Amino acid sequence: MKAGVIERLGASPGATSYPDPTPSTDTEVLIKVEATALNAVDLHIASGHHRAGAPSLPYVPGVEAVGQIIAGPDLGLRVRVVVAAGLAPGVNGGLAELVVTNRAACIPVPAELDSVAAAAVGVVGSSADISLRSAGFHDGESVLVLGATGPLGMAFLQLARLAGADRVIAAGRNPERLACVPAADGVVMLGKEPLSEQLASLGGPVDLVVDPVWGPWAQSALACLSPGGRYLNVGAAAGDGTPFRVEWLRAAQLTLIGFSATAVNPAEIVASYQRVAALAAAGSLVLPTATYSLDDVALAWEAQASSPGRKIVVIP
Ligand SMILES: NC(=O)c1ccc[n+]([C@@H]2O[C@H](COP(=O)([O-])OP(=O)(O)OC[C@H]3O[C@@H](n4cnc5c(N)ncnc54)[C@H](OP(=O)(O)O)[C@@H]3O)[C@@H](O)[C@H]2O)c1
Repeated sequence: MKAGVIERLGASPGATSYPDPTPSTDTEVLIKVEATALNAVDLHIASGHHRAGAPSLPYVPGVEAVGQIIAGPDLGLRVRVVVAAGLAPGVNGGLAELVVTNRAACIPVPAELDSVAAAAVGVVGSSADISLRSAGFHDGESVLVLGATGPLGMAFLQLARLAGADRVIAAGRNPERLACVPAADGVVMLGKEPLSEQLASLGGPVDLVVDPVWGPWAQSALACLSPGGRYLNVGAAAGDGTPFRVEWLRAAQLTLIGFSATAVNPAEIVASYQRVAALAAAGSLVLPTATYSLDDVALAWEAQASSPGRKIVVIP
């Protein structure tokens, strides 16, 4: 088969031929891939710096894909699959014409949802859906979403709105991109005056901050919470390890919550994907996408690394 293959840690994958995968048990299925969404975690794993350790090389990255079962149980079913590509020795991912996984890791895709949209909404949609629930976000509450111009941030904005948010505020560093984000009642700019001062004219402090960026922005975002508020960290796109003063955390009785999709149990992922796929099929959860052919996989990879403001989807 043709696949995007990582030969060296930190390098982009190249399109090349790779041995066809074959199911080795009767619970495994062979999938003909129709679309693979790239995620920040794919690049993190391929860099060798993921907490699970460096992948064995060479390998095919891509933790999520959509395609049709062509061997094994439920032949012909179109499914979204999650694959621990590069996280366990010998596990190859969806950036290929074919992928093998357990039938239990396959979730049927609604007929009305095309494969590109079905792939795009997977990791980011489920991560936003599950973490908002784990943070106890509910109708009538207000939320500030950092990294709002990325696909994960856009999923948070829309899902918070659908959950009945009273106020949804988007934060980012790029005014042109911020002007286009969905479902926001207002926007605040990172790097201008303090976020809490900008919020004053947008309804004041919020109940929840959602943070996929951390770095130098976390301190300023923490000051945007009402007493008793929750701070949900889901990433560190602006850098990890930044000093952080905790006095306001204590004084305002705040709760700091961490979330990683890789730590969620598979049944919860299945249930969440079904929810977000249904919303996407109904047009209630929309993420901008850019598609690339498998021959252009290196370009797709570089686009993903450059914060493209959309989901990058590779079509084999
Ligand atoms: N916890 C989980 O389970 C989970 C799941 C999915 C993703 N994530 C993480 O969440 C983050 C966002 O995901 P994504 O898919 O939306 O990624 P993405 O496409 O790379 O988007 C990155 C977002 O972060 C912003 N950003 C990047 N560097 C920044 C900086 N130095 N200062 C301020 N903002 C910065 C970007 O703003 P611009 O538009 O201005 O570039 C954009 O909004 C990634 O780090 C990813 O690893 C975590």
